[in-house]
Amino acid sequence: MQSGAARTLRRVWGRSLQLLHADVALIASDAVWSLPLALYRLSGRRVARFSQLYRAGVLRQQFERSRIPGMTALTERAYLKWHAQEELTGAGAVVDLGSWLGSTTASLAMGLAANPRRSTRTSMIHAYDQFRWEGWMDIHSPPTRLGPYKPGDSFRPEFELVVKRWRERIAVHEGDLLQETWRNGPIELLIVDAMKSWELASHIVRELYPALLPTSGHLMHQDFSHCFTPWIPLISYRLIDFLVPARDIPRSESLVFRVASAVPPRASRFELGRSSFDDFEIEQAFRHWLDVTPAEKHSGLRAARVLLSHYDGDIDQAESLRQSFTNRGLLNEFHINTLHAVMDR
Ligand SMILES: C[S@@+](CC[C@H](N)C(=O)[O-])C[C@H]1O[C@@H](n2cnc3c(N)ncnc32)[C@H](O)[C@@H]1O
Repeated sequence: MQSGAARTLRRVWGRSLQLLHADVALIASDAVWSLPLALYRLSGRRVARFSQLYRAGVLRQQFERSRIPGMTALTERAYLKWHAQEELTGAGAVVDLGSWLGSTTASLAMGLAANPRRSTRTSMIHAYDQFRWEGWMDIHSPPTRLGPYKPGDSFRPEFELVVKRWRERIAVHEGDLLQETWRNGPIELLIVDAMKSWELASHIVRELYPALLPTSGHLMHQDFSHCFTPWIPLISYRLIDFLVPARDIPRSESLVFRVASAVPPRASRFELGRSSFDDFEIEQAFRHWLDVTPAEKHSGLRAARVLLSHYDGDIDQAESLRQSFTNRGLLNEFHINTLHAVMDR
């Protein structure tokens, strides 16, 4: 009995050390950017503007985490703060689709508040959500101050609490995005974490993409390599002449795009529903994204390819793709388990 307890203790201790080492290594890999960041700031933002400077901000996001719950990775939060602080010029609005408890909105607001450009002093963040709890949120939910919530409960007060420090810079749009239209001028930064169906995806593209500012505008897809949203890599491939991949956010499913040229307005030649993608374009699209994204995103993209067939009702193709990817070791354990949970019910 005693030796069993000792074995358990040793196992737990060994696991904690492993985690500690992993975290320390990750924190160190972000913290090394603090020195170049200091140089960048001391030089009046003239030298050392490396693309990874934002990672110096991961530590601050770690400290803020207990006050700012969310599903976002610390790298995503640090990037959003950086972008709002260093990249935004004030030429357009910032739009956050699917704010949930406010982690993206708060990171953006933190950055906007520190942006030195006069022209951004009146810039607003438009935060969109239904603010209604859904059952699937339970397993992703960090501790909340006003929860726990049950399906249908409003979590708007929790969002308000999280973003209170920056509230005057935030316009909240509560309701179903499918009913929303955009009438607030050009958009300089669009963060999308609400493309949860083909219908939402088409609506968001038609309503908001045409407002994206060419050249300085950016779009961040938080679900780019998420296995449940295969339409995102497909639609992104279709629109690649307008929105070009600009930056990968490590340890997340996010990919940031730069607006190379204006996306044509609604009622344009783009018909983006599922039926508009044939097998050839689907294979081209997934092959393209596997070629140009880091390996970290590949398991999610492949699982998304499997789930596309599953959602289509093509069970044989979904199964054959899953077997092929699994046998070749191309899916990680998380995606093997997720596909099992979705497909083998
Ligand atoms: C994955 S969560 C977003 C997580 C969030 N970005 C964060 O910072 O942790 C997706 C959000 O999209 C919202 N959403 C989904 N469908 C929506 C719709 N049709 N209209 C408005 N919001 C929607 C949900 O309420 C949910 O808060």
